[in-house]
Amino acid sequence: MKKILSKEEKTFILKELNKYKNPDAVIIEILKFVQKRLRWISLDTIKEISKIISVPASKIDSIATFYNQIFRRPVGKNIIKYCDGVVCYINGYEKIEAELSNYLKIQPGNTTKDKKFTLIPICCLGNCHNSPTIMINENLFSNVTKKSIITILDNII
Ligand code: FES
Repeated sequence: MKKILSKEEKTFILKELNKYKNPDAVIIEILKFVQKRLRWISLDTIKEISKIISVPASKIDSIATFYNQIFRRPVGKNIIKYCDGVVCYINGYEKIEAELSNYLKIQPGNTTKDKKFTLIPICCLGNCHNSPTIMINENLFSNVTKKSIITILDNII
């Protein structure tokens, strides 16, 4: 099997392992670190991590799948997360979801054909008092409307 992890990533993993007695405690941090470069976490990546930290790949796999900030399939250049939590629901996230889906011509959870955007629903972005909320890459956008979403996206394209 071709090695996926870089030298820097292996060093990071070993350093994290040294911090805790239980290797389970470092799984999410490792996945987040590795995902920064690879952009998503494949099963082969999980198997390689599994060998280093001596935690079964099935366990890492289930943690990676459960944690919604870890992507289990390739994602686009820009990741758009929209909140479908309760407060954003009350403030009309469904209109935002429909507008995003319509504009990008993809259903939630998918990536545009040109690999420019991935659209992901997230249950609460921690910005409830300014809902509806979306996040594009690391940037949070508050009180979004159908109109402001188009302006935001036009600025990215
Ligand atoms: S419910 Fe949408 S940001 Fe919290």
